[in-house]
Amino acid sequence: MLRSLFTILTLAFGLCGLAAAQTQGASRPAAASSAAAGATQSANILDLKPDASADPKYAQQSNGERAKVQPGNNAPMWRQVGSGITGTSSLPRSQAPEAGNLVQPSVRYPGSRLTNAGEAWREVRNKWIIPYGGALLLIVIGAIALFHWRIGPMKVKDEPTGRLIERFTYMERSAHWANAVAFCTLAISGVVMAFGKFFLLPVIGTTLFGWLAYLMKNVHNFSGPVFAVSLLVVIVTFVGDNLPSKDDLNWLLKAGGILSGQEIESGRFNAGEKITFWGGVFLLGLIVVASGLFMDKLIPGLIYERASMQVAHMVHAASNIAMLCMFLGHIYMGTAGTKGAYEGMRTGYVDESWAREHHALWYADVQSGKLPAQRSVTSPAGSAPSAVQV
Ligand code: HEM
Repeated sequence: MLRSLFTILTLAFGLCGLAAAQTQGASRPAAASSAAAGATQSANILDLKPDASADPKYAQQSNGERAKVQPGNNAPMWRQVGSGITGTSSLPRSQAPEAGNLVQPSVRYPGSRLTNAGEAWREVRNKWIIPYGGALLLIVIGAIALFHWRIGPMKVKDEPTGRLIERFTYMERSAHWANAVAFCTLAISGVVMAFGKFFLLPVIGTTLFGWLAYLMKNVHNFSGPVFAVSLLVVIVTFVGDNLPSKDDLNWLLKAGGILSGQEIESGRFNAGEKITFWGGVFLLGLIVVASGLFMDKLIPGLIYERASMQVAHMVHAASNIAMLCMFLGHIYMGTAGTKGAYEGMRTGYVDESWAREHHALWYADVQSGKLPAQRSVTSPAGSAPSAVQV
């Protein structure tokens, strides 16, 4: 009996405690909201103007106007940023040319959509330069291999006479090889940067490829200026003998006699070499060098911005692929494609029979005494020029 009474009392007190606690809890939000009345209040965007976007001028609102109807909605500001509008900056343009501009304005580069310039540049690079440039390089390599296989190298039919003619002086060879080494370094590092992710990354993995690409980028940046200087020396050194002559047309019309097997007469350099000189060394060489030095920010007095960098990059990459295609042909003809040509550029001397067969008009000028057979002070054996028989 006593125990039942105790149980009833316990339950009664328990229920009273619960009810008191609930009453306290219910009164808390009212107290909190009255405390917050003096503090900063955030507004619920839906409570203010749920139908704000129905306003026909909604899309044209400034950030201030939008803030009144939808506080916290900064879309107009971000739309302005994205449209490439340049803000104000106290930094001088020469020091920070793009300080007031976060996103570049929209542009359509050849082959891209009309979109912000960074994306447009990416499209040109990834959809045009890399796939088509890579395909072109492979086609040229394939064509050279096919040519070598079906037609083969140009050989000298006559036996060597043992009498040598100086084809390139020490200065000419130094300029040529300095330029050739710089070119090959640039070509290899450039190919790794542009195409490495397709043929190297799957083989060596991301870590090694990351280091390699980083190394190649720095190698590329440092050999660029070496190439630029040696290119100018090559141009000045060889321009005289690459001027067009009346014999070039005949050589071109008969494609140098490559198909007939009967080589067409030419001066010191034939029309094919002259095309490589003017198209590859002079024109493409200067474009490649100018755009490369621009990207290295080495040309003083210019303002370097993202847009000009993007244009310079596209010009650099496209002209480099064209130049590489030409020089793959030049390197083939200068090594495996023409027997004895590489020795001429390495030692400076060619045999008389080589000169007669490949550059008959030049040989005739040397024979007639119009051109000297020896221009350097020392001959290949290190003896006096007179020791070279012609
Ligand atoms: C590994 C790369 C190269 C090799 C093996 C090579 C080989 C040769 C050879 C053997 C000759 C002599 C041809 C003859 O006697 O008629 C030659 C000439 C020449 N090479 Fe190269 N070359 C290379 C790269 C370059 C580069 C990168 C340039 C310039 C960008 C260049 C510019 C010239 C010029 C200007 C001539 C003189 C012929 C002319 O002016 O038409 N070479 N090269």
